[in-house]
Amino acid sequence: MRTISIANQKGGCGKTTTAINLSACLAYRGKRVLLIDMDPQGHVSLGLNIDIHDRENTVLSILELSNDSRLSLADISENVSENFDVAPADISLSTLDQHLSMVEGRESRLKHAISQVHSLYDIVIIDCPPSLGLLTFNALIAASEVFVPIEMSLFSLHGISRLMEIIESIKKKTGHEINTKVFGTIVDKRTRISREVLENMKNHFSDSMFETVIRSNVTLKEAAGYGKPIIDYSKKASGFQDYMMLTEEVLTEKRMEQTLSVEDNKSMFLNSDFERRFSYFGPDAKSVRVGGNFNDWNPTDEFLMKRDEYGMWTKNVLLKPGIYQYKFIVDGEWVEDQNNSNYINNAYGGTNSVLEIGKKDILNGKEESWQGA
Ligand SMILES: Nc1ncnc2c1ncn2[C@@H]1O[C@H](COP(=O)(O)OP(=O)(O)O)[C@@H](O)[C@H]1O
Ligand SMILES: [Mg+2]
Repeated sequence: MRTISIANQKGGCGKTTTAINLSACLAYRGKRVLLIDMDPQGHVSLGLNIDIHDRENTVLSILELSNDSRLSLADISENVSENFDVAPADISLSTLDQHLSMVEGRESRLKHAISQVHSLYDIVIIDCPPSLGLLTFNALIAASEVFVPIEMSLFSLHGISRLMEIIESIKKKTGHEINTKVFGTIVDKRTRISREVLENMKNHFSDSMFETVIRSNVTLKEAAGYGKPIIDYSKKASGFQDYMMLTEEVLTEKRMEQTLSVEDNKSMFLNSDFERRFSYFGPDAKSVRVGGNFNDWNPTDEFLMKRDEYGMWTKNVLLKPGIYQYKFIVDGEWVEDQNNSNYINNAYGGTNSVLEIGKKDILNGKEESWQGA
């Protein structure tokens, strides 16, 4: 089971929107998902139209009770759609600090509660509050992964280092690995601030950053207003496409990690061919190819992408380290990769997506250390 906390102490950066829509897309892809609201504002329930008035049991009931209590997360959860359960919270959750002020192990309450339901779910998503108190601590200690949404504003990167420090200290103290990844949200690539923030993020976080960016899309806001994930509101919206792309990355990442740990990654580098997976989400497309300067912009049948049952088109291509430009050819029309924020203007007044293979590994001197190992 994977446990993913969506954290950033800044409010309004898309945590709840991501928690809801990533959960819904993962459930759509067949994963059994539990979404836990750790924010006393109860926005998860609002965004999914779950009535929390006069509810006897909420997330607080689980956390305030002693570890051997019989009440489990499954007992307090509500099923919102196939494979998708929610453990709701309300304002009472803000009293947890007082309830547990002198209790030992109070930071591990959530971890323990999740371990009790591990056989019921494939993935647990935790929506964190906009603060770095006991609630966020519980969420971080429970997590195997932390995803940090960063929105495109002047100070959006401020404070991230504090969050990273806390994650590092938890790793040291508990000895458990927490894989941390950032991604851009509410992105408008036409604006300079979006481009600058994304550039800064790439420099700071390099491969700890998702390639997918979530574009600014009012339909996401609208869907939340109607109490629905975007997938149940509009499959035409860019917000749906973006969260499906993020989901694909979240699911593939794990697969790649597994194959990498089995194979010898040393030989992979020395052969210096990198397998690069191209993804395009287009449920309505009839045919999709990938073309770029690696195939002389002439995508033969070899570069046809393969569609899965959900409408995700993928193709793995072997590439030597270098910088590449590419586009997708969707039903004969050349389109850029909307989820890649790296692009340059081409000679035809349009843009090409840009991709860099292998550079980081060379710069980090990984090759040397691998040979020395
Ligand atoms: N990609 C997006 N495009 C447009 N609006 C968004 C997007 N993501 C989030 N929002 C809106 O921004 C506001 C804050 O988002 P939210 O997910 O609640 O942030 P947080 O949980 O970090 O406080 C909400 O009104 C939400 O609908
Ligand atoms: Mg929120």
